[in-house]
Amino acid sequence: KGKRAFIAGVADDNGYGWAIAKSLAAAGAEILLGTWVPALNIFESSLRRGKFDESRVLPDGSLMEITKVYPLDAVFDNYEDVPEDIKTNKRYAGSSKWTVKEVAESVKEDFGSIDILVHSLANGPEVTKPLLETSRNGYLAALSASSYSYVSLLKHFLPILNPGGSSLSLTYIASERIIPGYGGGMSSAKAALESDTRVLAFEAGRKRKIRVNTISAGPLRSRAAKAIGFIEKMIDYSIANAPLQKELSAEEVGNAAAFLSSPLASAITGTVLYVDNGLNAMGVGV
Ligand code: NAI
Repeated sequence: KGKRAFIAGVADDNGYGWAIAKSLAAAGAEILLGTWVPALNIFESSLRRGKFDESRVLPDGSLMEITKVYPLDAVFDNYEDVPEDIKTNKRYAGSSKWTVKEVAESVKEDFGSIDILVHSLANGPEVTKPLLETSRNGYLAALSASSYSYVSLLKHFLPILNPGGSSLSLTYIASERIIPGYGGGMSSAKAALESDTRVLAFEAGRKRKIRVNTISAGPLRSRAAKAIGFIEKMIDYSIANAPLQKELSAEEVGNAAAFLSSPLASAITGTVLYVDNGLNAMGVGV
């Protein structure tokens, strides 16, 4: 039977989350999305108006179907944790049940279970600041949105993830090598995410036979990456220096995600898989 996937972190058709959804849909999976609450209205109206129809085209010519879009703010675990100013914020008041726990409950109510969980989200309010100029709040916010959000998602979805299922996230090599410009504690957040991938692989593997991996992706011109401000430089650098001298497409990451989510990867867990044209293997630029 077809598998069901929940992909957190899709709010347009430019990022890795969208490409992962497409590769999973092409492989026959049913697609559920979690979209950041402040971005939900634009995303849903664009979907309805057909703005994404061209990018919904799958290899067989059909259009990717999105069964349901859930509002989500992965910084909050349950409704009791949400501060008053967010509860009453205009961009949040129009939606409900968008904390991680409530979304997992809604998916359970609607569909019973899922087979694939994907975390394709990150946020660091001070990402443009060097680490030495990052505030405690900025650093903790980066960890909360980009690392703990994954722990929380997996924790709350684990009871409805079918045994044999797969969970994955997206990381970046700034966790282990110096990438000036990836600041605000985002490099720290990715290091935490990669370490957590190993620990969570153990815990979710023993508890429910769930595999946990992360893809260390090369640079992509997504909305989030443009906000950092150095994406063109990183793309040019990769094309100039990587073993494979081509621009990385989101689809290549999507396909790797589909592989990791499939039974073809049934013995792969706790790993960081580089999908970056091999740039990680270089010691110097040439
Ligand atoms: P994107 O902009 O398509 O995706 C980021 C998503 O996170 C957005 O949809 C945004 O609305 C959502 N988001 C932010 N805060 C949230 C919250 N509190 N709750 C729920 N959703 C929230 O950008 P991209 O680049 O595709 O990012 C996806 C993942 O890929 C991230 O983990 C990113 O760090 C990672 N990545 C991106 C690279 C790149 O060059 N674009 C390179 C390596 C990793």
